[in-house]
Amino acid sequence: MTDIDRLNRTFGISGQLVFFAGPGGMPFVRICNRHASADIALQGAHLTAWQPTDEAPVVWLSPKATFAPGKSIRGGIPICWPWFGAHPVHPHLPAHGFARTLAWRVVECAALPDGSTRIMFELPRTDTVRTLWPHSCRVTYTVTIGRTLTLELATTNTGSHPFILSEALHAYFAIGDIDAVRIMGLEGCDYLDKVDGFRRKTQKGEVTIAGETDRIYLGTPADHIIEDQKLQRRIHITKRQSRSTIVWNPWADKSAQMGDMEPEGYRRMVCVESGNAVEDAVTVMPGATHRLGVAYRIGVFSKAVGTS
Ligand code: BG6
Repeated sequence: MTDIDRLNRTFGISGQLVFFAGPGGMPFVRICNRHASADIALQGAHLTAWQPTDEAPVVWLSPKATFAPGKSIRGGIPICWPWFGAHPVHPHLPAHGFARTLAWRVVECAALPDGSTRIMFELPRTDTVRTLWPHSCRVTYTVTIGRTLTLELATTNTGSHPFILSEALHAYFAIGDIDAVRIMGLEGCDYLDKVDGFRRKTQKGEVTIAGETDRIYLGTPADHIIEDQKLQRRIHITKRQSRSTIVWNPWADKSAQMGDMEPEGYRRMVCVESGNAVEDAVTVMPGATHRLGVAYRIGVFSKAVGTS
């Protein structure tokens, strides 16, 4: 029996949840219910697709994404954990931590009474994890696929010393065109501008993108909306225990240099990442659980007033 057979026998839900060998032969799970469909790679517990019924895909996946062991997939929702960006002390360690490139274990799958589907993953404590992150902890990731996509990354400190964590759910959203997008909910927030030497600035008005953008917004508990004039839709983002929002678009030159992006790929995606980074990093006390939560849903787009 293959690992895929074993997973299907233990966790499969007839007509709703199936494990399969996806691109690069990597194990994936596909969920289809009356509300939505989604694909998740077990490597990184990396969601690569989410499409509510009768909607265009909401999550963007690069047509040039590579699927290989130990390599992060360009697009979808990589999990940045237990550090966001460069390691704060050891810059040679992998950017955005290691959770996005390790195989996660499936611990539970459930068909919920409202027709949505839940799947829970756990990050195994491998030797790599123990070496790179010498803290006792349990990490779970719960994904609920419905008309709303709900994600919860829970970190429990099972040791006797506090530890400091930075993290992000690095969502790539599919958009009609980068020129026709604005992001609301960050007005007045301070941000660190990574394309300007991490200078601290304050956001005036809504965020629009007209060049390489790489910003860590700090103190951002409010909901966000990505308004897309071209696709005529709004993506609503609601967060819990997340004080940072990262907005990233590599623009033309960087896209052209990246092996896993099409040169014009930057026009069709924007990253709006929910997490806790830099000064918003979280201290997790012994016995405590920190739960980073986010929910995405499509809202109504009104041409007249742009409200939902
Ligand atoms: C963003 C960072 O979160 O992720 C950017 O702010 C980075 O600096 C981007 O370039 C993509 O990172 P990676 O490691 O997936 O290429």
